[in-house]
Amino acid sequence: MARLKVAVLISGRGSNLQALIDECARPGSAAEIVLVLSNAPDAAGLDRAAAAGIPTATVDHRDFDGRAPFEAAVNGALDVAGAGLVCLAGFMRLLTAAFVERWRDRLVNIHPSLLPAYKGLNTHARALADGVRLTGCTVHFVRSDMDAGPIVVQGCVPVLPGDDEAALAARVLKMEHRAYPLALRLIAEGRVRVANERVEIDGAGSPAGAMLNPTDDSCAGA
Ligand code: GAR
Repeated sequence: MARLKVAVLISGRGSNLQALIDECARPGSAAEIVLVLSNAPDAAGLDRAAAAGIPTATVDHRDFDGRAPFEAAVNGALDVAGAGLVCLAGFMRLLTAAFVERWRDRLVNIHPSLLPAYKGLNTHARALADGVRLTGCTVHFVRSDMDAGPIVVQGCVPVLPGDDEAALAARVLKMEHRAYPLALRLIAEGRVRVANERVEIDGAGSPAGAMLNPTDDSCAGA
């Protein structure tokens, strides 16, 4: 069967991109990354893509007069690549409603919190300030409201005594590297459906197949 053609949009170091590259390199993977696109010319993730032999593109937002022409250029590159799914992996540009609608249910994002808690930036500092015991990450379909949309996979981690922002970020990032590959695998295998703005997963009688916790090493990406 033809593999799902995936484009990954990045702005920075690309550690989640690497997790997706590794997932697609797994024998039997139903997904292939056909394009890595960055808005930042110096994004380290571009080197990861090149090292894996994946085509790259840079669409520098500073070269465009506004979001619409920038996104038109991004769409052009995605169309040439034949992308069927777009994964945002540390892509730090807000997208317009028009872009989001064009890719409805074919556009996913990873966010470093258990959404709907801690939308936006500085998620770990805010979680520490609030004294929460658990935090984590969320892979979700993108909607035009920031950090909102049907949830595919969540992974939780504990907040431990003595944690600072860096320690907590590292623990969450490790979980991100399990959650995003799992979400990609479920989507590429055609097991994910959005109904009434909720994600249903075939073959998982319960949502457990899309819920990761730190002691569960049985899922993809562990
Ligand atoms: C990740 O922690 C991701 O969840 C976050 O940026 C980081 C990118 O790291 N994304 C957001 O905050 C989006 N709102 P990476 O470049 O190493 O994958």
